[in-house]
Amino acid sequence: MNAKFFGHAAFQLDDLLFDPFITGNENINKKISLDDIKCKIICITHDHSDHIGDAFEIAKKNNATIVACAEIAFDAQSKGLNAEPMNIGGQINVGNWKIKMVPATHSCSKGTPVGFIIKKDGKTIYHAGDTGLFYDMKGFAELNIDFALLPIGDRFTMGIDDAARAAEYIDTKAIIPIHYNTWPPISAEPEALKEKSTREVIIFEPLEQKEI
Ligand code: NI
Ligand code: MN
Repeated sequence: MNAKFFGHAAFQLDDLLFDPFITGNENINKKISLDDIKCKIICITHDHSDHIGDAFEIAKKNNATIVACAEIAFDAQSKGLNAEPMNIGGQINVGNWKIKMVPATHSCSKGTPVGFIIKKDGKTIYHAGDTGLFYDMKGFAELNIDFALLPIGDRFTMGIDDAARAAEYIDTKAIIPIHYNTWPPISAEPEALKEKSTREVIIFEPLEQKEI
């Protein structure tokens, strides 16, 4: 599966893109144009601007489908975009993906903050969104998660220590750290997670692309 990190929480797997915060991210916005981004599905974890970001504009350019909590999805539909509304615990099929919406412990303005557990080609990936550690992550251990995208920047989300704990709860095979070093208040050293976690840690530089 082709994976590309756009910095912060923006991550693409084949034709599915999470939380595309591009124009507001000064670490990448001069190196990429929204026209370069091609996708069919955009999953949005919550409506903070560093997550909903450019989602609607990219959806429009690509005729892509927004997948989000009902309140964000209805807003997208009211603007003429394709959207699949859902809520915590629900699972839907979109394109070749199975997409499940799971809780996140965070805040937002519209609806509720969420994470996603998605499956395709025998692989299961968890994008945690913005969240603190929560004990119910232990339930995700039954889902055979291959890759967990976990925030490590601290302050607004988990930091490195709790991300290492989360990886044990989830029983993920590998961690992909996200949501760090976008701004000084969430600076973190992803290499430090390798010392703290028993799991494989796969670090992506912003705009790096690789097969996972
Ligand atoms: Ni947030
Ligand atoms: Mn955030």
